[in-house]
This record gives sequence, C-alpha cells and structure tokens, in this order.
Amino acid sequence: MIQQKGEIQIRKVVETDLKIVMEIEQLLRDDGRKQIWSFSFESYWEIFNPNASFVAELDGEVVGFVAGKIVKRERRNSIFGRLHTGEPFSLHDWVGWVDMIGILPKHYHQGIGKMLMEAFYQECKRHNAVMRSVVYDNDERFKSFLTSMGFKESNVVIYERS
Ligand SMILES: CC(C)(COP(=O)(O)OP(=O)(O)OC[C@H]1O[C@@H](n2cnc3c(N)ncnc32)[C@H](O)[C@@H]1OP(=O)(O)O)[C@@H](O)C(=O)NCCC(=O)NCCS
Repeated sequence: MIQQKGEIQIRKVVETDLKIVMEIEQLLRDDGRKQIWSFSFESYWEIFNPNASFVAELDGEVVGFVAGKIVKRERRNSIFGRLHTGEPFSLHDWVGWVDMIGILPKHYHQGIGKMLMEAFYQECKRHNAVMRSVVYDNDERFKSFLTSMGFKESNVVIYERS
C-alpha cells in the first residue's frame, strides 16, 4: 500500500484492476472529461504500458485511478533541443506525464483525486522527474484541480493555420 487516509487506500494498479478502471474511464466520458486522445483506455494501456498508475480503494472497491508514465526526455535539454516543441525548459531529465485521472462521480470532492496525484508525485520524486500533464485550455475543472496542487501553467501556446 502506498498511502492510506481514513478508509481510502492508494496503491499501484495491477492487471486485475483494468476492467474497473476501464469502466470508470468510460463512465467519465459522459461526465465532462476532456480527452486528449481519441483511442480507448485498453489501447492506451497496451501501447504505452503506463508504469506510474495508481488506484484508490474504498472498502476494497476501486473508486478512482490515475494513469501515467515516467519517461526520459527525448530531446537534449538545451535551447536547440526545445526548438519545435511546446515543452518548457526543465533541469530534470525525466518527466512523469499524468495522462488520465478519474474518480467515480459519487466520490468527487473527498480528496481522492488529490491523494492519487500525491502518490504520482512521490513516484516522480523517487525518479527525480518533473510532473506534467497536457490539459485542454477550456477544461476549467481539471485546471482548477491541478492549480490547487501547485501546478503552474506553461506560458507556451502553439498556434497553427491549416
Ligand atoms: C478532476 C477530478 C479528478 C477531481 O477529483 P476529486 O477527487 O473530486 O478532487 P479532490 O476532492 O481531490 O479536489 C482537490 C481540489 O481540486 C479542485 N477541484 C476539484 N473538483 C473541482 C471542480 N469540479 N471544480 C473546480 N475545482 C475543483 C479543488 O480546489 C479541490 O480542493 P477543495 O476540495 O479543497 O476545494 C474529478 O472531478 C474527475 O474525475 N473528473 C472527471 C475526469 C476528468 O476530467 N479528468 C481530468 C482529465 S483526464
């Protein structure tokens, strides 16, 4: 077990959690979750093998998850390496990307999302990684959630014309 607060336990995802995690993720598509990718959670899991993923359990039942991966930065951390990428400068060679997070709606506002993010953050610290997430600019709920945990918005925005 990674963390416990009251009845809530946070632990790493295991294979047998996948069914319920997929159900929660599917459910949240109808509850205002803004998806960065259009493919299914199943494909995401198989292709990316997200090594920093946690679930929250309440009385032995999974009620939320965070899925993400700690990866080595591909580009050299120099001014030239940052050309053609929106990634902000960082002294860290590793990045912990929070790809998805979801809590069962009946358990919103109980601090479960925060506990999951804290577990992810501790995992990043163990790997000396900076923690990041890609967010839609109009996802006010997620932006407010991240801001409450000390995340700061990068000031780089990509403009395009097709
Ligand atoms: C965003 C989400 C993960 C928050 O989970 P949660 O367990 O309810 O969040 P917490 O209770 O830990 O809240 C922590 C802080 O986040 C902020 N926050 C949480 N929900 C919020 C909301 N609906 N609107 C604005 N701020 C919110 C608050 O500052 C809150 O602190 P407070 O309770 O002291 O006010 C949850 O609403 C969710 O699963 N949403 C659907 C999926 C989604 O949008 N995921 C993000 C994109 S992948």
